[in-house]
Amino acid sequence: MHSYKNIPQNKMARKNIAAGNWKMNTSIEEGVALAQVVANAQRDKETVTILAVPFTHIYPLQKKIKSSSKVFLAAQNCHHKNSGAYTGEISPSMLATMKVPYVVLGHSERREYNHEDNALLALKLRAALDAGLKVIFCCGEALEIRKANSHISHVKTQLSESLFQISAQEMKNIIVAYEPIWAIGTGETASPAQAQEMHAAIRAMLQKQYGKRVADNTSILYGGSVKGSNAKEIFSQPDVDGGLVGGASLNATEFVEIINAF
Ligand code: 13P
Repeated sequence: MHSYKNIPQNKMARKNIAAGNWKMNTSIEEGVALAQVVANAQRDKETVTILAVPFTHIYPLQKKIKSSSKVFLAAQNCHHKNSGAYTGEISPSMLATMKVPYVVLGHSERREYNHEDNALLALKLRAALDAGLKVIFCCGEALEIRKANSHISHVKTQLSESLFQISAQEMKNIIVAYEPIWAIGTGETASPAQAQEMHAAIRAMLQKQYGKRVADNTSILYGGSVKGSNAKEIFSQPDVDGGLVGGASLNATEFVEIINAF
């Protein structure tokens, strides 16, 4: 049984989550092997494990991972419409039909390389929730914004123009992921204090918008060079409820270490 000793009272309301974002990596065979090691590893079952995998990997992984292993799959994106002439896109209802529980929206790589802005992300959020998906909604600032000390107002705009278009009731289907762009894939993490500052600020924004209950119940993940060696310190911050992990989630041993870092 999970011990809640040392966990601040308000942290008890929300789930600890270790989410891996494989991005555009692994062959199907490699992905299946990786997921099987993660699913079979000795893990604290109170921690929610999510793997955000390429679309092509969803079906093969569903066939290979036992649902009892409590490893949940996420898509890394979806369109904002359910069908139509949108070549190359995947719709929220297609994911829902496949029983994919989660979708990642607003990742900085999609904001940058696919020009997804806050208005489009508001549409995607609406469509994903309407289809019955849960959303891992990403936010975070670039280095220049942090240097200009505008990181908190930048994230506030990202949330208010996208996430805050949904209702308090729907927030139970949202996980927020704070990913400072300067820490993604760079090996440089935000310091635990920097992560905590932003996570507390995000929780205060959630409280202002939706009230204390929603704020206390929403898991906020940190992403950006999380590794086995730094996860414990970051996750121990009072407003950090887990991680969204890129590179280190491609190594099963390292990712399992992260899952067990709570
Ligand atoms: P890294 O863990 O490789 O820095 O990536 C973070 C990320 O973008 C997860 O979505």
